[in-house]
Amino acid sequence: MVFTVTTGKGGVGKTNIVGNLAVTCQRMGKRVLIFDADLGLANIDIIFSITPKYTI
Ligand SMILES: Nc1ncnc2c1ncn2[C@@H]1O[C@H](COP(=O)(O)OP(=O)(O)O)[C@@H](O)[C@H]1O
Ligand SMILES: [Mg+2]
Repeated sequence: MVFTVTTGKGGVGKTNIVGNLAVTCQRMGKRVLIFDADLGLANIDIIFSITPKYTI
């Protein structure tokens, strides 16, 4: 299953939606991979308090 979350504007809540969706799916027993394709201001790492090994 693939979900794409996108908007034409920054700062509208994509990262928060994706983070909560990921946690919800994981709690349902799914394995989850998040790809933050925001080239300018990717910040999914911040809400999970992690330091990514790789960036784009
Ligand atoms: N449902 C919400 N209610 C209030 N503030 C929110 C909500 N969703 C996100 N925010 C706040 O808005 C800002 C941008 O959210 P973020 O998820 O990083 O947006 P995006 O990924 O679209 O740039 C953050 O400061 C976040 O805490
Ligand atoms: Mg974001």
